Amino acid sequence: MRILIVGNGGREHALLWKLHRDHPGAHFFATRPNGGMLDLARPVEIAPTDVEALAGWAAARAIDLTVVGPEAPLAMGLADRLRKAGLPVFGPSAAAVRIESSKSYAKDLMRSAGVPTADYRTFSDLAACETYIREQGAPIVVKASGLAAGKGAVVCITVDEALDAARAMLGDLSFGEAGREVVVEEFMEGEELSVFGVTDGTDVVLLLASQDHKRVGEGDTGPNTGGMGAYAPVTIATPSLLQEARDTVFLPTLRALEADGSPFQGLLYAGLMVTPQGLKVVEFNGRFGDPETQVVLPMLESSLLDLLVASAEGRGLGTLPAPRWRDGAALTTVVASGGYPGSYEKGKAMDLSTVPAGEDTLVFHAGTTREGDRLVTSGGRVVAVTGRGASLEEAARRSREGAGAVRFEGSFYRNDIGWRELARQS
Ligand code: AMP
Ligand code: GLY
Repeated sequence: MRILIVGNGGREHALLWKLHRDHPGAHFFATRPNGGMLDLARPVEIAPTDVEALAGWAAARAIDLTVVGPEAPLAMGLADRLRKAGLPVFGPSAAAVRIESSKSYAKDLMRSAGVPTADYRTFSDLAACETYIREQGAPIVVKASGLAAGKGAVVCITVDEALDAARAMLGDLSFGEAGREVVVEEFMEGEELSVFGVTDGTDVVLLLASQDHKRVGEGDTGPNTGGMGAYAPVTIATPSLLQEARDTVFLPTLRALEADGSPFQGLLYAGLMVTPQGLKVVEFNGRFGDPETQVVLPMLESSLLDLLVASAEGRGLGTLPAPRWRDGAALTTVVASGGYPGSYEKGKAMDLSTVPAGEDTLVFHAGTTREGDRLVTSGGRVVAVTGRGASLEEAARRSREGAGAVRFEGSFYRNDIGWRELARQS
């Protein structure tokens, strides 16, 4: 079997690691793999967004399964292009991934399907948007509708902040095309959960719920990042809460997408808020979360490959046995470049030899690259060190020890990933 992984971050390293465990005999390829992925996959020197070239390459190599990590190639139609060529792909069509690439589309779909989410209105006119913000008052949330690399949502404590955010998006186009349309929504109070559903368009298999930490600083302070760490499982994600997520979020959303002529095959990621009024959707993504994948997959004992193949085939997911999970917990700590999420330097020599890597300490590479036999940094999030353990405390200890042993100039990490859950358990 020949498997192509598209993307080269920590999420894709974790996908590759798990699929390799599921099927060690398969041949793996990856687009511009990071320094860690190179151990398991052969490099393909094509950019993930070069959809035509990638589809041509996959056809010529008779790739049996393409697994698309990031959203950009999906929004550009990579999955459509591969399906048209008769090649199995794990990932939604460009039309279906609008659930992530257009917040206004996602909100309208949720409203019409009765999926619980924050009240909202969509604007392309600044004056109308300003009037609405003044009427609603604060706190309030202002979001660029398009893809903005996780930075398009501004949670505003005051009306002035919200007016500034709306002016930046609609007036100054500071988010480019992504901000030509703006969604203004009600502020929701509660704790957030990430829930992944593998779907073949009809059935959905929910994976273990996880929680990520988006802020750069300890105690969840400072600017938003792509994610500084994550853990799973989460005790507030009880079986009845997950049943509620399935019945009120996943299934109605999949039905609505199908009715819209865009059945969703791939990974539907629901960012959920556990509010006093029940679950509400914060956002949908059409791909695995990063760094949540680096804790969810290490907890999965049964085959991920079987799930992805059924999704790619568009049928059969409902006939697979339920996924089996390890006991205990996993926690991952991202080690980042000094300055991230602002500007940072690349090309720093790295030393991972002091990390006690093994079955319970897994190092997933993100922004690393090999230069000859040297490993150097090449991104903001450099590696994620996942600890596994019989308890979350044990997993946290291993993850933090591992993260602390990663050496490169300017490195930093949060030493408090999982703090809410650890406090709940103590
Ligand atoms: P998004 O880009 O939509 O995922 O939003 C990024 C982050 O902003 C979320 O993870 C939440 O922490 C926060 N957020 C987004 N929308 C809301 C909301 N309506 N109420 C409260 N917090 C929100
Ligand atoms: N961890 C958040 C995301 O992948 O969007």
